[in-house]
Amino acid sequence: MADSASDPAARAQALREQLDYHNHRYYVLDDPDISDAEYDRLLSELEQIETAHPALQTAWSPTQRVGTKPLSEFAPAQHLEPMRSLANAFDPATLSDFDRRVRETLDIKAVEYVAEPKLDGLSINLRYEHGRLVCAATRGDGEVGEEITANARTIRSVPLTLRTDIPPQQVEVRGEVVIRRAEFDALNQRRLARDEKPFANPRNAAAGSLRQLDSRITAKRPLTLFVFGVGYSTDALPATHAGVLEQLGDWGFLINERVERVDGVQGCMAYHDALIARRDALDYEIDGAVYKVNDRSAWSTLGSTARAPRWALAHKLPAREATTQVQKIVPSVGRTGVVTPVANLEPVEVGGVSVSRATLHNIDEVHRKDVREGDTVMVRRAGDVIPEVVSVVESQRPAGLTPWSMPAQCPVCGADVVRVDDEAAHRCMGGLYCPAQRMGALIHFVSRQAMDIDGLGDKLIAQLVDSERVATAVDLYHLSEVDLLGLERMGEKSAHNLIAAIADSRQTTLPRFLYALGIAQVGEVTARSLAMHFGSLQAVMEASDDDLLAVPDIGPVVSESIQGFFAQSHNREVIAGLLAAGITWPQPQSPKKADQGVLAGKTFVLTGALSEWTRDEAKAAIESLGGKVSSSVSKRTDYLVAGEDPGSKHDRAVSLGVPVLDEAGLRELLSQPAP
Ligand code: IVH
Repeated sequence: MADSASDPAARAQALREQLDYHNHRYYVLDDPDISDAEYDRLLSELEQIETAHPALQTAWSPTQRVGTKPLSEFAPAQHLEPMRSLANAFDPATLSDFDRRVRETLDIKAVEYVAEPKLDGLSINLRYEHGRLVCAATRGDGEVGEEITANARTIRSVPLTLRTDIPPQQVEVRGEVVIRRAEFDALNQRRLARDEKPFANPRNAAAGSLRQLDSRITAKRPLTLFVFGVGYSTDALPATHAGVLEQLGDWGFLINERVERVDGVQGCMAYHDALIARRDALDYEIDGAVYKVNDRSAWSTLGSTARAPRWALAHKLPAREATTQVQKIVPSVGRTGVVTPVANLEPVEVGGVSVSRATLHNIDEVHRKDVREGDTVMVRRAGDVIPEVVSVVESQRPAGLTPWSMPAQCPVCGADVVRVDDEAAHRCMGGLYCPAQRMGALIHFVSRQAMDIDGLGDKLIAQLVDSERVATAVDLYHLSEVDLLGLERMGEKSAHNLIAAIADSRQTTLPRFLYALGIAQVGEVTARSLAMHFGSLQAVMEASDDDLLAVPDIGPVVSESIQGFFAQSHNREVIAGLLAAGITWPQPQSPKKADQGVLAGKTFVLTGALSEWTRDEAKAAIESLGGKVSSSVSKRTDYLVAGEDPGSKHDRAVSLGVPVLDEAGLRELLSQPAP
């Protein structure tokens, strides 16, 4: 091996070859055989040699992939052979016509095609002379494009030199530059984090990145080149298109993995259908299939129109994006009370179906995209995903449109719509009453940890709501057996049992009742803390922010949610209705001071992971009953609560004879009746 001190030129050359080899394994074969760190070490050794010996620097060195100083404008670049477009087919009939014309012109019975995905990116022309990349250009008008060589060099799947000992004198390689979907998402995340506008789609991102005057920016973008053919060559090429692609692969280019040889119209159709089925699983965007006559000697016989060759056809897939107008933006209330802005659209066909509504997710998205009623927008529908508004076509915005804002009242029930601190979502505060939330609220209300009404499942609740027998939880307590008998699969015995179960649930506890109300952010543990701290429902309902913040595990977000809930007159009416229907719990529960709780004087240590609670929740629950939580086990510890993987505290507790509780044991201890 050449040593850099004695023969820097040889060492530099050896390093370049190694780096090119590893680069190819990583970016083209997707099969690296050294670590990133090792690669970086080789690269930095090469950089050092090139810095020390400027005469050894070349444009084809792997060190040149980081970009160079910005251009003031792009130079024009004439293609040696024009870059034509493709004729399009949108239906099988056009494909059949194409195939028939090919057969007739060539006077053959059956045609072998190469079928390829039509990649949705930007085409590029790469000219290599004696195996070295000398010019890269965009398509431009097909004859003359823009020279973007510095940018192309930064793309790792673009070989700077061809991997062959006998390169053609001059060759133009053509392909599509794309950004893979996962990399696109990550790129947009990074942009959002820096307060930059995200790209509307991978194609726009690829186009914006490739046409950068500053190649150092291009270098930071995750561009990938798939090549699909040769434009011009001084040297003879293989006789078939499949052979040419294989040759290009050998030279170090990335060929799309879905390229296939197919026979006739049937083969093309089958390929097209399979491609549609796989569309969502591909990690790059495609907008069709391309069929090319495999036998290249037939290409000159078939010839070209000014626009497109007669030996190839693009079979388009239904577009997944379309532009249309936003008629109105309406807040839509979901089952959990989250209010989502939805755009009502002028119906438009996207991905093969008509779309008239698209989600805008939340108010931040509306403002970030600045979508207004009356705007023209780009809509996307991918797979089974809900259609979404991607971006506004600003150039088409009529004068006088005003920014959209979330209404202050729920469009369904009129309760306040509140955005709780830290949350992206707005919520309707009318949880107990809002018709949009009925199902969700009732399912929660009857659940085991809440009012525990046995035999009242989701399907039955849906029937009760749909038949308008039940609108709020109050109505449950006024149902009779006769009311139930009209329902599907409801016999006398089950009706009787259900009414009995509803009646039984009247006798409950304050924590259960508070939990059953379904106040956002109030889970079982918080409900218990509230009950213990305030002692009565009335006191909880009247609690001020300061009062609430004094409860162990309640912070500003939870406090705001509780106050917002009880501020709604409809919610208060439902609560009054429930009490009037006979719901009771052991009363009055006088407020518990810490030293009066059932766990007063007891010291707990928590260790390991609990499955149902966070550490803080468990701590708050223990403290709300007067217990203390300490961090280390000693003789004075009363209980060790051990979750998953408890570790050394557990061993110590066992050796000191401290009782060890599991999660169920703790739960049992906490549910002891008050003294
Ligand atoms: S062949 C003369 N093959 O589609 C034939 N093009 O509408 C040249 N494209 O400008 C094109 N995937 O940017 C070919 N597998 C593929 C392709 C493909 C995407 C693009 C290319 C071209 C445009 C024509």
